[in-house]
Amino acid sequence: MIDGLRRLEYRGYDSAGVALVAPGAPLSSAKKAGKLVNLVTELEENPLPPATAAIGHTRWATHGAPNDLNAHPHLADGGQLAVIHNGIVENFAVLKKELLADGVTFLSETDTEVAAHLLAKEHAATGDLTEAMRRVALRLEGTFTLLAVHADQPDTVVGARHDSPLVVGLGEGENFLGSDVAAFIAYTREALELDQDQIVTITADKVSVIDFAGEPVEPRRFTVDWDAEAAEKGGFASFMDKEIHDQPQAVGDTLLGRTDIDGRLILDDLRIDEAVLRSVDKIIVIACGTAAYAGHVAKYAIEHWCRIPVEVELAHEFRYRDPVVNEKTLVVAVTQSGETMDTLMAVRHAREQGAKVVSIVNTHGSTIPRESDAVLYTHAGPEIAVASTKAFLSQITAAYLLGLYLAQLRGNKFPDEIAEIFDDLKAMPAKIQEVIDRGGRVREIARWMSDTSSVLFLGRHVGFPVAMEGALKLKELAYIHAEGFAAGELKHGPIALIEPGQPVFVIVPSPRGRDSLHSKVISNIQEIRARGARTLVIAEDGDDAVLPFADEVFWVPQSPTLLAPLLTVVPLQIFACELATARGLDVDQPRNLAKSVTVE
Ligand code: AGP
Repeated sequence: MIDGLRRLEYRGYDSAGVALVAPGAPLSSAKKAGKLVNLVTELEENPLPPATAAIGHTRWATHGAPNDLNAHPHLADGGQLAVIHNGIVENFAVLKKELLADGVTFLSETDTEVAAHLLAKEHAATGDLTEAMRRVALRLEGTFTLLAVHADQPDTVVGARHDSPLVVGLGEGENFLGSDVAAFIAYTREALELDQDQIVTITADKVSVIDFAGEPVEPRRFTVDWDAEAAEKGGFASFMDKEIHDQPQAVGDTLLGRTDIDGRLILDDLRIDEAVLRSVDKIIVIACGTAAYAGHVAKYAIEHWCRIPVEVELAHEFRYRDPVVNEKTLVVAVTQSGETMDTLMAVRHAREQGAKVVSIVNTHGSTIPRESDAVLYTHAGPEIAVASTKAFLSQITAAYLLGLYLAQLRGNKFPDEIAEIFDDLKAMPAKIQEVIDRGGRVREIARWMSDTSSVLFLGRHVGFPVAMEGALKLKELAYIHAEGFAAGELKHGPIALIEPGQPVFVIVPSPRGRDSLHSKVISNIQEIRARGARTLVIAEDGDDAVLPFADEVFWVPQSPTLLAPLLTVVPLQIFACELATARGLDVDQPRNLAKSVTVE
């Protein structure tokens, strides 16, 4: 159980807990606030008895502070029933009132405890944990994955799923349930996808699934395409460092198998009628955080290659602003986890309005691809560090593939033009490797700057989303003020922030691209330098024009303008990782965050 929780801890680390059952024994449990290591220490000091079935949880707090009492599991039925929960029970206040009136005593401030006591009530009425869970699931509003064990059924774990992730791992003489396959990847790669609104019951040698109406259902089986080793640090100091180094392979793998024998692009996991794709008159990219910045980069490329207007919208803003979406709109949902609740809700809204949805997803067996009309999988492998790195690069790569495919289909580009861009893309993994190999100087500067209190990032064109991504990395990892600006916007206000010594990263576009773009950014560097900024410039090999205005230059190999983000973001990832490490922070699990944000 602890091993599984360790692999899932990246999803939330405010507290951790376990509950165990065994034949003829009372239920035993332990829980501790803080990271999993606190629970491990507690279990070493006060070991629990052997068990036949167990549930365990790492928490990202929503209702109630991250303390011992609010940690999961929550117990009911005199401590003989235990429940863990992901999501939010939105009607918990009404249900709590009802339970209080029945004389139930609550020990925590969580919404989850309501589910535990309701389950105890239904279990007492039915004598069967599966039926009790089904009845409770029908009463809960909001989002939930619930797992429960009861001392009376020591061979059984029951789960319910409604808009929160849950997958089944199929072992030999053992079965598993997890928020994602990482939980059981060390034991089996064979898995079952559950659908929404289903109840699953597992024992050591049986898995049965019913829907909320009680009807049996046959879940889809799949094999996980990575193994436990891919989810290990492999000798790196942190998962983030490892994942930065995984990037050449992540981009290369995302490009694999995308052309037919005539060299034409094929996206065989794109299952939307070609006529529909030809009639698309607008693309809306929906995503959050880093994935949204990948969408911003994609906008420049897709508009340029396909001449289709592209909007990029934060998923949580999208459905609340009554967006203009119809059958001619193609919505592209970008998500590493495939579980981000904001993005899932936006996907559903888009489809309700008649739009077709293509999702760009890294995690097989996740919810968003199943609810999309088509999927383009990135092949980045498991991303464990909370700060996204290799997912970002592979999302950009997949979005480029989609753009090129649309350009081919709609005749916006000749086949030889597409082949040329595709060849440029295939050259990127080696160039990314070169940027990583040159990372020593960035690390050195990051260590020198470990006590800095603010860093600004400037970029133009595709360099703008890269600037925002560089700032996000620094904020989430090092907890210091960081902001990304469009370089041209500076003079409209933010330049007032510049004072002597203010560090500013500037992402300079290729001098071989649109000439005015390069010279405009050079002017922007001069403007901030004249006001005392310390300029840290990311520029292409050979771009000597930056030298007179740069306090430091981080060189990247030459590449076409639109592909440059795959290179220019890498020094910024290394910078944030190193600076946070120098400040003594945990780069894999930054404070207050969780890897998959499965609540709205
Ligand atoms: C980035 O470093 C963050 N982890 C975060 O912004 C993330 O990209 C966002 O929450 C979206 O996650 P998703 O790709 O799994 O949907």
